[in-house]
Amino acid sequence: MGILAVGGEVDKTIYSGQLDERIYQPEGGAVQSMPDVAKAPAKVLSKDERIAVGKSIYSSTCQPCHQADGKGIANSFPPLAGSDYFKGNATKAINPIVHGLSGNITVNGKTFNGIMPKQSLSDEEIANVVTFILNSFGNEGGAVTPAQVLATRKSSNK
Ligand code: HEC
Repeated sequence: MGILAVGGEVDKTIYSGQLDERIYQPEGGAVQSMPDVAKAPAKVLSKDERIAVGKSIYSSTCQPCHQADGKGIANSFPPLAGSDYFKGNATKAINPIVHGLSGNITVNGKTFNGIMPKQSLSDEEIANVVTFILNSFGNEGGAVTPAQVLATRKSSNK
C-alpha cells in the first residue's frame, strides 16, 4: 500500500472526506451485511390459493401422464377425474406422489398395472397439487395441508 499526498483546496464534490474502511477487508467491495430482520415465515395458503398454485404444478408435473382433462390414458395412466381410488381418502392421492405406486390397482372399474415414479415435490407443493385435484375434474372437493403430506411421507403404509 502506498501513501498519496494531495495538497490544495478541498473540493467536496470530488471527495467528501468520508472514509469507508470496509474496502480493505478481505471481501473487498463485496462486503455485504446480513439483514437483521428475520424473514417472515412462509405464508399459509388458503384453499383457493392452493388450487391456483396446484394447477400449475399439475400442468408441469402430472399432466404428461394423467392428461390435461385428468382422464388419463386407457390401459396406461389411470384417471384422476372422478377417481373412486382416492374418493373420501385424500391419503390415497398423496401416497403415489410421495412413495410412487406400482402393481395392480382398480380405478373406476378398470384395472391398471403400471408404474408411477415418486415425484420430487415438497410437502407444500404436494398439498397444493392434491388440493387442486380434489377440486377439479369432477372430484368431490376438500383440501390437503403440508402436515398431512409429511405424515403420509413418514408412513410406509401404501
Ligand atoms: C410418469 C407418469 C406419471 C406421472 C408423471 C404421474 N403419475 Fe400418477 N400414476 C401413474 C401411473 C402409471 C399410475 C398407476 C400405477 C399402478 O398401476 O399401480 C398412477 C396413479 C396415480 C394415482 C392413483 C390412481 C388414480 O388414478 O386415482 C394418483 C392419485 C396419481 N397417480 C396422482 C398423480 C399426481 C398428482 C401426479 C403429479 C404430481 C402424478 N400422479 C404424476 C403415472 C404417473
